[in-house]
Amino acid sequence: MRKSILILALCLAASVQAQKFAGLAPTPPMGWNSWNKFGCDVDEALIRATADAMAASGMKAAGYQYVVIDDCWHGQRDSLGFIHPDPQRFPSGMKALADYIHSKGLKFGIYSDAGWKTCAGRPGSRGREFQDAQTYAAWGIDYLKYDWCHSDDLAAKGAYKTMSEAIHHAGRPIVFSLCEWGSNKPWEWAREVGHLWRTTGDIAVVFDGIVDHGTWKSWGVMQILDMQEGLRVYAGPDHWNDPDMMEVGNGMTVSEDRAHFSMWCMLAAPLMAGNDLRTMNAETRAILTNAQAIAINQDPLGIQGLKYFAQDSLEIWFKPLQQEEWAACFLNRSRLSKPVTFNWDEHHIVDEFSKREIDFTRASWKLFDVWANREMGTTKKPLGVQIPSHDVLLLRLTALKK
Ligand code: GLA
Repeated sequence: MRKSILILALCLAASVQAQKFAGLAPTPPMGWNSWNKFGCDVDEALIRATADAMAASGMKAAGYQYVVIDDCWHGQRDSLGFIHPDPQRFPSGMKALADYIHSKGLKFGIYSDAGWKTCAGRPGSRGREFQDAQTYAAWGIDYLKYDWCHSDDLAAKGAYKTMSEAIHHAGRPIVFSLCEWGSNKPWEWAREVGHLWRTTGDIAVVFDGIVDHGTWKSWGVMQILDMQEGLRVYAGPDHWNDPDMMEVGNGMTVSEDRAHFSMWCMLAAPLMAGNDLRTMNAETRAILTNAQAIAINQDPLGIQGLKYFAQDSLEIWFKPLQQEEWAACFLNRSRLSKPVTFNWDEHHIVDEFSKREIDFTRASWKLFDVWANREMGTTKKPLGVQIPSHDVLLLRLTALKK
């Protein structure tokens, strides 16, 4: 009897060990990932130049820190099974690249896959999880995105737990980013396993629409936004819903980029830029580095925003912030510019999840227009604005002293 209790206790202790490195992502991670813009065309010159640009462009100062190489950095495994980078594309090796990125005060992320192969057919980590995690730790990796292609008969929870344990065992704190596209509802089980999990398939450079690739589809910004329905209760500090890396600067209009970025801020989404930082124009940079918008995203409470109203292509979102402040976002999804009136006094917003409420008949709030960067009156008067097509009005609300 006693012996079986002891065995049970040991088993429990072993299973508890399977925990992520806690506390690495108290607010949504911010950085850059190579995939959306560069696909498989990655090499060390691009990554170094991106780190340079991140430091020089104001991105680093705005809070971006992870430089993540997505798929296709891989070369072969050696006779002992150790993975090596592609020797043509990364001749100096990953340790040297990590040192360079760290010397800029930034952090280094990499990509692998739970299956036999990555989505682009490079070696996956299946059966090599502990060995790969040790290699990444030795290279100085700080962030691992872990994909789900070629996963055949694997059970997602077990597969991601194995890599989480492997990282823990390797001993270097690494942010663990699950990328299984929401197929196995990671929001229900990944809180102890990783720091963020993709909730959807891949994003496309489309504001509203679906791109059909034959065997799979990628999704417009609005489609991805709609797929976040019901998920906000699963997110919070150190465990984030990830609606995918951003397409800001990759070809949508400035309005669309602004709306995309604003909604990612309202969602408390990880802010992973997906554009070419070396050549981005001033408009793109201004969107990605807007301090007020980022402050909404990075609010320490980490409460994902809620959709309060949706009608005739207009959505109104609210996000509780620290110190009794709120963010509000009016999103015009239509193809036409839209006049919007909003009589604050008719609204009483109650958020059951965060236990926060805002009753505009009982108190008044100062409005700050984030994109215009100026005060915009108070909630004592009804709002009356024109919102261009595929654009937003993003506000920060601060209680007026009585
Ligand atoms: C999947 C992921 C993408 C990207 C590619 C790389 O599609 O969802 O984000 O990592 O694989 O091949």
